[in-house]
Amino acid sequence: MSRNKIAVIGGGQIGTIIALMATQKELGDITIIDLPDFIDPVKGKALDIDHLRPHINSDVMISVSSDYADIAGSDVVIVTAGVPRRPNMSREDLLFINIDIIKGVAEQIKIHCPNAFVIVATNPVDTMSYVFHKVSGFAKQQVAGLSGALDTGRFQSFIAEATGLSVKDVSCMVIGGHGPTMVPLVSTASVAGISITDLLSSEQIEQIVARTKEAGSEIVQLLGNGSAFISSAGSIMEMVEAFLGDKKRVISCSALCQGEYGVEDYFLGVPVVIGAGGVEKILEASLDTSEHESLSTTASAVIASANKSGL
Ligand code: APR
Repeated sequence: MSRNKIAVIGGGQIGTIIALMATQKELGDITIIDLPDFIDPVKGKALDIDHLRPHINSDVMISVSSDYADIAGSDVVIVTAGVPRRPNMSREDLLFINIDIIKGVAEQIKIHCPNAFVIVATNPVDTMSYVFHKVSGFAKQQVAGLSGALDTGRFQSFIAEATGLSVKDVSCMVIGGHGPTMVPLVSTASVAGISITDLLSSEQIEQIVARTKEAGSEIVQLLGNGSAFISSAGSIMEMVEAFLGDKKRVISCSALCQGEYGVEDYFLGVPVVIGAGGVEKILEASLDTSEHESLSTTASAVIASANKSGL
């Protein structure tokens, strides 16, 4: 059996950690694409990962290029190319610069990896996934944006911390746009099946919900020169493993909705089944009244952003 081929577009903070994690897990051979002017540091980091392999018994190959022909036939392509946030910037502030980058990337992936499953991480991710889909013409099953997987992990971590219980037993989901209007679903959040409303006060839950929505900004403020990258890469790896292993995992991702949650032909963070078919299905959860209202607010924000792309 031949090895999986994993392409990473953009060898910056997230791209490097993805390459590291994929090497640790021996998920497949990895090719990182970056711009010629920025390629040397990427090559340096890739060599560093290459030299880690003997210490962790990993036999995957890692290479770096500026030529998209080198990712031909990749099973999965992860798009991290773009500019990250700095303090006091919203993800929306990245819109126009990253739209141009994603348009160029989509053209190349369309030529060289027409059958790949593509995970878009570039922000604002709901719009970037939309732009990627429009420009590439890829089927809706082939494109998923990194949003809820990351936001859900933050929600899970905060619930585990507040309850003092294992993060492994926390089950919850964040849906909606990957920004301040996201919707952490309290009505279905639980620890080992016990509702968080039985374990935490309403004030504690409100604080957790608010912190989840601002968790990305909290990290941006602390880092000072970039945005979250370790948990981002980890969330992407969950999506990659679900796809390569045909795991049928239910992961919140930005996916093309065609009527689901009342959204027609836009990308929004929703619970998705990821397996060998990519985005195999969107699951529709029943929401309580306030969650329903919040979802309509977040959908409006995501649609307004996508419409700025002019596509
Ligand atoms: N083609 C290929 N690579 C590109 C291109 C392009 N057209 N434009 C930029 N890049 C590369 C940069 O050279 C850099 O190496 O993308 C990489 C981006 O890395 P970082 O600046 O470190 O950003 P990172 O933290 O990895 O985040 C990437 O994901 O979560 C989002 O908001 C985040 O939009 C940002 C993206």
